[in-house]
Amino acid sequence: MFRLILQVWATISKKEMYSSSKKILLFFIMALTAMPATASARGNATMGAEKAATCAACHGKDGHSVDPNYPNLAGQHQSYLVKALSDYRAGRRTNAIMTGFASQLSNQDIEDLAAWFSAQQGLQDLSIQ
Ligand code: HEC
Repeated sequence: MFRLILQVWATISKKEMYSSSKKILLFFIMALTAMPATASARGNATMGAEKAATCAACHGKDGHSVDPNYPNLAGQHQSYLVKALSDYRAGRRTNAIMTGFASQLSNQDIEDLAAWFSAQQGLQDLSIQ
C-alpha cells in the first residue's frame, strides 16, 4: 500500500504541471487515503460486532457471558484477546471448545473481534471491593 503511494508520489513530483502547493495538497490527500488501511490492520470493531454473532451463545452479544463457565470478554485488553485467540488457533493454548472456534478465524477476524470486545464496558477492579 505505502509502496504504491510512494510510486504515485514520485510520478507526481516529476510532473511540472503541479505547483508545489498542489503537490503538498496531494501528499496530504494520499496520506489520508492510506490511513483506513492502517486502521483496519489493527481491527475494526464494527466488523468485529458482526463476526461476534458466533461467540454470543457463550460469551454474550457484547462479551458479558451468559454463564459463569464462560469467561467475560467485555473490556478485556485488545492485545490479550488477540493473543488468546492466536494461541488457541496455534495450539499453544488448548480447550476443546475454543480450539475449534479459533481455527475458523483469520488474522483479520481475530483483530476485529478483539477490537469489538475490548471496546465494551467490562472488567472491574476487584481489589477495591
Ligand atoms: C460453546 C461456547 C463458546 C463459544 C461459542 C465461544 N467460546 Fe470462547 N470460550 C469458551 C470457553 C469455555 C472458554 C474458556 C476456555 C479455557 O479455559 O481456555 C473460552 C475462552 C475464550 C477466550 C479466552 C478468555 C480469557 O479470559 O482468557 C477468548 C478470547 C474467547 N473465548 C473468544 C471467543 C470468540 C471470539 C468466539 C467466537 C468466534 C468464542 N470465544 C466462541 C466457550 C465458547
